Amino acid sequence: METGRRPIGWPLLVALTNGRTRIPDHRLAAAVRDQVVLVTGSSYGIGEATAKRLARAGATVLLLARTAGQLETVADEIRAEGGKAFAYPANLADPVSVDEVVAKVLADHGHVDVLVSNAGKSIRRAVADSYQRFHDIERTNAVNYLGPAKLVLALLPSMRERGSGHIVNVSTAGVRTPPMARWSAYLASKSAFDMWLRCVSQEVRGDGVTTSTIYMGLVHTRMSSPTPILNRMPGLSPEQAADQVCTAVAERPHNITPPFVRPADALGNLFRVPTDRLFERYFQLTNRNRKDR
Ligand SMILES: NC(=O)c1ccc[n+]([C@@H]2O[C@H](COP(=O)([O-])OP(=O)(O)OC[C@H]3O[C@@H](n4cnc5c(N)ncnc54)[C@H](OP(=O)(O)O)[C@@H]3O)[C@@H](O)[C@H]2O)c1
Repeated sequence: METGRRPIGWPLLVALTNGRTRIPDHRLAAAVRDQVVLVTGSSYGIGEATAKRLARAGATVLLLARTAGQLETVADEIRAEGGKAFAYPANLADPVSVDEVVAKVLADHGHVDVLVSNAGKSIRRAVADSYQRFHDIERTNAVNYLGPAKLVLALLPSMRERGSGHIVNVSTAGVRTPPMARWSAYLASKSAFDMWLRCVSQEVRGDGVTTSTIYMGLVHTRMSSPTPILNRMPGLSPEQAADQVCTAVAERPHNITPPFVRPADALGNLFRVPTDRLFERYFQLTNRNRKDR
């Protein structure tokens, strides 16, 4: 993704804001060799980069997204490097499609060791532009909350029966930082799945099923590129983001959180009203030429 020329010190700024964690290749290989890892949203971006690194480490990767041709291209690239990859086109927004793909995956591979719930849809739109767009809320919920929840429900029985499984949720730093204008549909749907999985996690841990949530900072992918301001901000490459996901797959931490998020989370909770007022002011300033917003 083209992000232009960057000043000296930019990589440090990226690391400070978004965090950098990279599990060494040999440790990743020891953790995932011959494991069956299902990566949703692996046709592009973070999911594609994650699937490729996991396959290089010896995992059997199952690629899930809607775009069958692109999934096959990624699978071919993995196989050309000697990895094991299988494409499973499916639409997470369609519960029937989720049931069908899980039945096929379990028939083909018997089980899934790790689910990387990464597929997602982002929308940045002011509410004044959304009066006729209730479908924005429906679609973000379908892809970011209901679809991933349906997928977890479909996979959990076999994971609990085997007494082993791991679920990695690729969430966003935005669900931990104070709410931001224009991101209502996206952040509400990501928050819903985050909370749902945290509750579920308490119930299944005793049966050997663990969860990790990555509160991912900015990543320069086709998801962030339509928002000009994000292209100018310090962000990770898809490969750097995939390093965080691979760390979560192998080491199974409760969460991975960028350095700036913990203080922002704490301050936002302690000073909820002034923080909301501050962001409100920012919205008014950046919106001042759009009187109707
Ligand atoms: N980029 C960022 O700055 C950033 C920051 C924090 C968190 N995240 C999270 O990271 C995850 C990956 O984002 P990304 O930046 O890599 O975006 P991306 O490049 O746009 O990739 C999104 C992936 O999700 C798949 N997908 C979308 N709708 C789907 C559906 N209905 N059914 C199945 N698959 C679907 C897409 O494939 P098809 O179109 O082929 O279906 C694609 O593979 C998302 O959950 C996002 O919320 C991103």
